[in-house]
Amino acid sequence: MIRSIVRGFGSALPKRVVTNREMESMVDTTDEWIVQRTGIRQRYIAGEDETSASLGESAARAALDNAGLTPDDIDLIIVATSTPDNTFPATAVNIQNRLGMKHGAAFDMQAVCTGFVYAVTTADAYIRCGLARRALVIGAETFSRILDWNDRTTCVLFGDGAGALVLEAGEGEGTSDDRGVLTAHLRSDGSHKDKLYVDGGPSSTGTVGHLRMEGREVFKHAVGMITDVIVDAFEAVKLPLEAIDWLVPHQANVRIIEGSAKKLGIPMEKVVVTVDQHGNTSAASIPLALAVAASDGRIKKGDLVLLEAMGGGFTWGSVLLRW
Ligand code: ACO
Repeated sequence: MIRSIVRGFGSALPKRVVTNREMESMVDTTDEWIVQRTGIRQRYIAGEDETSASLGESAARAALDNAGLTPDDIDLIIVATSTPDNTFPATAVNIQNRLGMKHGAAFDMQAVCTGFVYAVTTADAYIRCGLARRALVIGAETFSRILDWNDRTTCVLFGDGAGALVLEAGEGEGTSDDRGVLTAHLRSDGSHKDKLYVDGGPSSTGTVGHLRMEGREVFKHAVGMITDVIVDAFEAVKLPLEAIDWLVPHQANVRIIEGSAKKLGIPMEKVVVTVDQHGNTSAASIPLALAVAASDGRIKKGDLVLLEAMGGGFTWGSVLLRW
C-alpha cells in the first residue's frame, strides 16, 4: 500500500529574540510568572521584512535541501496558518510563487494550533489516493501580528516561526513496521469557539482583530482531548503506548505537555519540548520541534513518532508516523 514517508524537514525563525526579561518592560509581568505557568523563556518575533510567507518559504527551502529535492519535484503545497499574509490568495500560493513553481496545487488550511496535524493528515490522504506524489507541508505563523500587546494574559505566550516537511509516496506492507504516516485522528467541537478566537475578520468586522483567550478554559480541556486522540492512534495500529519513541506535541505550555505525558505514562525523556525557546507558534510549533529533534539526532529513521495538537475551535488531533 502507498505510505506518505517523511523525506525532509526544515524550519525558519525570525531574527529577533524577545526574552521574558524584555517582556517585563512591555507589560506588567515577570520572568518567574511566565516560566512557572508556561515554561516559556523566550520567543522569536518577526520584523517588518518577515511574514508568514517569507518564513514559510525559508522553512520550505530548508526542507527541500534536507530531502535533496527541488521545487520541480513537488506537486502539492499545503500551508497551515491562521496568520496569512493576505486574506487571499492563500499563503501557499505565495510560497509556491516564491519557490518559482507554476505546477501542482497549493492551498492553506486553518485549524489554528492543530493546523499542522490537519495539514499532514490531508497531504497523506492526497498522496495515498494518488492525487499527489510529493507534498510540502508547511506550518507558518506570525501570531505577533494578532496579539494585543497590552494584554499580559496572552501576549507573553506566543511567538513566530515556520517549519516544513516533505512527504513522499512510498511502498509499504500495510503494517505498523512501515515507514510513513500510519494513522491520523482529527477532531473538532465548535461549541468551544468563543474560548480562543480572534475578535475580527473580513466578513464580520472588516478588521484583522486580536487574539482573545480564556486560558483556564483552554487548559481545562487540553489534557483530556490530547490524551484521547493519542490513545485512538495507538489503538488503530494495535501498538502499545510503550512502543512510542518520540512524542512531539504542540508547544503551548509545558504544564499541558507534562500533564498529557504523565496521564499516558510516557516518560518526559521521550517528549520533545521546545516551548521554552519558541513560545507557542501555533501551527508552526510541531514542525519546528521536529526540525530541532531530527537535526540534533534524537529522531532517527524508523522511530515511531506521535504528533499531537489542540487549539482554537476547539480542534485537536494526532498523527502517528514512522520516521
Ligand atoms: N504576568 C503576570 N501575571 C499574570 C499574567 C502575566 N503575563 N497573566 C495573567 N496574570 C495573572 C492574572 O491576572 C491572575 O491574577 P489574579 O489572580 O490577581 O486575578 C493570575 O495571574 C492567575 O491567572 P490565571 O489566568 O488563572 O493563570 P493560569 O494559572 O490559568 O495560567 C495560562 C494562565 C498560562 C494562560 C494558562 O491558563 C494556560 O496555559 N492555558 C492554556 C493556554 C493555551 O495553551 N493556549 C494555547 C492553545 S493553542 C491555540 O490554539 C492558540
